Amino acid sequence: MEASTSGRTYHDDMARILWSPDDITARCRVLGRQIANDYKSKAPLVLGVLKGSFMFASDLVRCIEPCPRGLTLDFIRASSYGSGTESSGDVKLKTDLKKEKVQGRHVLLVEDIVDTALTITTVSRYLLEECGAASVATATLLDKHERRKLAYSPEYVGFVCPNEFVVGYGLDFDEEYRTLPYIGVLKPECYAHLGIPGPEPVGSGESGD
Ligand code: XMP
Ligand code: MG
Repeated sequence: MEASTSGRTYHDDMARILWSPDDITARCRVLGRQIANDYKSKAPLVLGVLKGSFMFASDLVRCIEPCPRGLTLDFIRASSYGSGTESSGDVKLKTDLKKEKVQGRHVLLVEDIVDTALTITTVSRYLLEECGAASVATATLLDKHERRKLAYSPEYVGFVCPNEFVVGYGLDFDEEYRTLPYIGVLKPECYAHLGIPGPEPVGSGESGD
């Protein structure tokens, strides 16, 4: 990152805003009610996939109303290493979650975006096959289904995302833009200096978190 930012802000780097804070809040309420109803007797383990889901997970769990008894919250970190424009598919998981805490539980994964679906597929398999989860479902804020490499249909989707590189509300580019309260399309000139051809890089070296 440059030491001087010449007075420019992250907002200047947006080509356009796709979803405002109000749009996101409204979708969280709808999804939260559905999840509360679907999981009312299942004591779900809600598992946020870090880092990208931190904001969505935080807003979504407060909307799971009425909150089912036995609901607990934890996090898992997933990242993949790519050439710069494409995820390698080599997804690394980091968690201090004990397998016995997952065994027999109905897990609801919370993701920022399902893109190629390599990440969510790896996390789901780990929970089902290695930890013995009773079921795994996914709530993703964004579904960029045009870019799937593996067939995957998330059970709960905030918004269908166009095939453009988006940032904000947890989503980053090279760790920047994560804290913006909305989701916007990043101007391609913001990553052109990295030699990444626009308009849809999967990540920036290490991606997926
Ligand atoms: P997939 O489904 O390809 O997604 O395994 C892995 C991770 O890639 C990141 N990703 C994005 N991040 N804007 C971002 O800021 C995007 O448009 C985008 N598309 C993919 C994200 O971390 C996701 O979890
Ligand atoms: Mg993610």
